[in-house]
Amino acid sequence: MKVVSVLGMGYIGLPLAALLARRGFQVRGVDVAKQVVDTINSGGVHIVEPHLDKAVKQAVSSGNLQADIQPRISDIFIVCVPTPFFFEKDIPVPVLDYVSEAIDNIIPVLEPGNLIVIESTCPVGTTEAIGQKLSKAGLDLNAIHLAYCPERVLPGNIFEELTKNDRVVGGYTEAAAKLAAKFYENITSGSIFITDSKTAEMCKLTENSFRDVNIAFANELSMICDDEGIDVRVLTDLANRHPRVNILRAGPGVGGHCIAVDPWFIVSRNFQKSQIIKAAREVNIKKTFWVVDKIIEKVHSIVGSKNMRGFRIFCLGLTYKPDIDDVRESPAVVVVTQLINQGFDVCVVEPNVEYFDGVECVKNIPREVIEESVVAILVNHREFKTSESRQLLAKADTLDFCGALSL
Ligand SMILES: NC(=O)c1ccc[n+]([C@@H]2O[C@H](COP(=O)([O-])OP(=O)(O)OC[C@H]3O[C@@H](n4cnc5c(N)ncnc54)[C@H](O)[C@@H]3O)[C@@H](O)[C@H]2O)c1
Repeated sequence: MKVVSVLGMGYIGLPLAALLARRGFQVRGVDVAKQVVDTINSGGVHIVEPHLDKAVKQAVSSGNLQADIQPRISDIFIVCVPTPFFFEKDIPVPVLDYVSEAIDNIIPVLEPGNLIVIESTCPVGTTEAIGQKLSKAGLDLNAIHLAYCPERVLPGNIFEELTKNDRVVGGYTEAAAKLAAKFYENITSGSIFITDSKTAEMCKLTENSFRDVNIAFANELSMICDDEGIDVRVLTDLANRHPRVNILRAGPGVGGHCIAVDPWFIVSRNFQKSQIIKAAREVNIKKTFWVVDKIIEKVHSIVGSKNMRGFRIFCLGLTYKPDIDDVRESPAVVVVTQLINQGFDVCVVEPNVEYFDGVECVKNIPREVIEESVVAILVNHREFKTSESRQLLAKADTLDFCGALSL
């Protein structure tokens, strides 16, 4: 039985580890967070994803999944650690420290014949840099195989996509690419495409930049349409009836660990030439602040400028997309924070998160106080689309920034 170590037990690594355990691999889930390791070893989960709790419980009780702080000798190592970024002046800088640390930690246990696959989203050239690091550590890259295989799953539907999506595998060597492609046949029934590591890295960044640019187009339209008194959703539905037009939905911005982050990885390496990609990021960021202004404008129209301080605003949703608990890069968090900082009395209704960064959330729309309040729908959670919620929301001054009420 092959032993697979999955490094990083987060939204990507944990479902993958549980799936591999179900497919008969002996899986070690490695994470630097002891709490995460303890939770998994007790058969529990620390993140919300449909079917994940059951899958992890089964994997742990079958004996095929065990979590640990330290990596041990394995046949295959899959790196699923975070790759955030920060801004240095105006230039986005990817943080590759977690990937680097994960590689440093496995170097002492690597053996000839091992396969290392990087799944973390990385700037172009990262796999080659890791290859050089391994060579410097005295390892033979013809004996230890290194590949890059980006993850494309959609949170909220991870198991379905993990087992069905096509995969792109880029090898440091051709042999590594072939070996990695063979391994992914155990995971997905989709097609597996082999390429070099730089193309595979760029492919992931391209997919998410494409979506970011398309959403920026919709968000820009939404602000123009607001000036013109046109409903942007009606407009885009009509435009999408054209056989070659497919505009994505406007919203309060773009969030999450992928679409709001990955385009910067392209911009950071080629600041001068990434004009559209950079502009799209800026439009999507600007849209969130436009939403804040719209909410304040609404309050102003009700109570005037003197009585705005302490006015109660209900913000519906805090996560970056519907029906998950992930708030990373969430536009809703920015909106809520801005409103609180400006002295409004903000009540966050969020069925999937109890508490975030000093903000306590309530699970349901409080029916007794909703009238005569301003309500901003920031996330399309299923709970906000029920007929009961719609009735409640009809009584308030509701600003629907994600089309929850028109879907
Ligand atoms: N979440 C998504 O929807 C998604 C989709 C596709 C790709 N990705 C990419 O996958 C990667 C992982 O994302 P995620 O959402 O699972 O992150 P996450 O933050 O949910 O999980 C990462 C885990 O890695 C652990 N970790 C950090 N450093 C480590 C180390 N050196 N060794 C072992 N564990 C370590 C952290 O404690 C954490 O539990 C990122 O590069 C991300 O861009 C994410």
